[in-house]
Amino acid sequence: MAHRIALNFEDGVTRFIEARSDEVVADAAYRSGLNIPLDCRDGACGTCKCHCESGDYTLGSYIDDALTEGEAAERLVLTCQMKAKSDCVLRIPASSTICKVKVGSMSAEMESVRQLSASSISFSLRLKDPDGMHFLPGQYVNVSIPGTTQTRSYSFSSMPRDGVVQFLVRNVPGGLMSSYLAERAKAGDVMTIAGPVGSFYLRDVSRPVLFLAGGTGLAPFLAMLEELQHGPPSQPIHMVYGVTNDADLVEVDLLELFAAKMRNFSFTTVVAATDSAHPRKGYVTHHLPVSVLDGGNVDIYLCGPPPMVDAVRAYLHEKGIIPMSFYYEKFSASETHK
Ligand SMILES: Cc1cc2nc3c(=O)[nH]c(=O)nc-3n(C[C@H](O)[C@H](O)[C@H](O)COP(=O)(O)OP(=O)(O)OC[C@H]3O[C@@H](n4cnc5c(N)ncnc54)[C@H](O)[C@@H]3O)c2cc1C
Ligand code: FES
Repeated sequence: MAHRIALNFEDGVTRFIEARSDEVVADAAYRSGLNIPLDCRDGACGTCKCHCESGDYTLGSYIDDALTEGEAAERLVLTCQMKAKSDCVLRIPASSTICKVKVGSMSAEMESVRQLSASSISFSLRLKDPDGMHFLPGQYVNVSIPGTTQTRSYSFSSMPRDGVVQFLVRNVPGGLMSSYLAERAKAGDVMTIAGPVGSFYLRDVSRPVLFLAGGTGLAPFLAMLEELQHGPPSQPIHMVYGVTNDADLVEVDLLELFAAKMRNFSFTTVVAATDSAHPRKGYVTHHLPVSVLDGGNVDIYLCGPPPMVDAVRAYLHEKGIIPMSFYYEKFSASETHK
């Protein structure tokens, strides 16, 4: 039986391989042309050590110098010995270039574009080769802008459904991709997507989780929630979704659907503008549930525009809150504008 193994390289590139349950993961990676770190192949040197972030496996045989008992308890593994017993996610402590990984790219066709509000647009792409694009919920791709040589990064806001993936985009006035989406995009337009990329993806839910979304920073969380609904976790997941103006608050009906389906998922919306008609005003930091933060027994995922991400990080630091895990993604403007 074969399992799907996600290999996440330290530069954020991810590649998926198939590993049979009777072969070690390193062999499966080399069979797929991925030269992950390897030396003795014998469980003696520790060169192939990496962290298994999710999934079941057997460790194989090795000596303590290569992998200590404590490391094994922290889910470190030796890929030259490890055999997968389920789909797994492995963090490889090397860059994708060193491992000779080519970032996948494929063409896709515009399926639909929807103006959700004056400030937000969603669009969906039909993948030309759906089997060639696997990603972890929360990851992003670089999308080409038709009629230009430029690309922009967008987080998947859905998991693939019948070969179609969705995105949620802020309509930045005068922005290249924003203008294309708002004014010219039509079904059938051909675009190229490259990826998946990013270390902002959902890990196993083993303690309370807090999702903090700023504006279209909601996108990766929608993909995560879609994935979670297939096996709702027993731990509570709370989201605070903050936007600047009332018009920026989109896809709330989708969040309500997730909350209806998942007993342990709850969310709060908050609007910063002082003239907002919304019942909860301010920034996400004004609405963080103390019960979830207290003691730091929480995994925090944070995504949004850079000032929002920086403000939340500064807030947690100032309050002395050290979460068990903290993952964040900044929706920075493209390099051409920095
Ligand atoms: C890893 C990653 C994932 C991302 N995922 C998403 C996503 O899922 N949804 C999403 O909406 N965006 C996302 N972004 C941001 C996205 O890549 C673009 O930067 C954004 O959509 C603007 O592109 P544009 O071509 O419309 O504007 P550009 O032509 O790039 O910019 C036009 C002008 O607007 C400024 N500008 C650009 N972005 C903003 C902004 N957010 N606020 C204010 N001014 C801005 C620029 O500096 C420039 O002056 C992500 C960015 C990164 C790095
Ligand atoms: S390559 Fe030496 S322990 Fe795996």
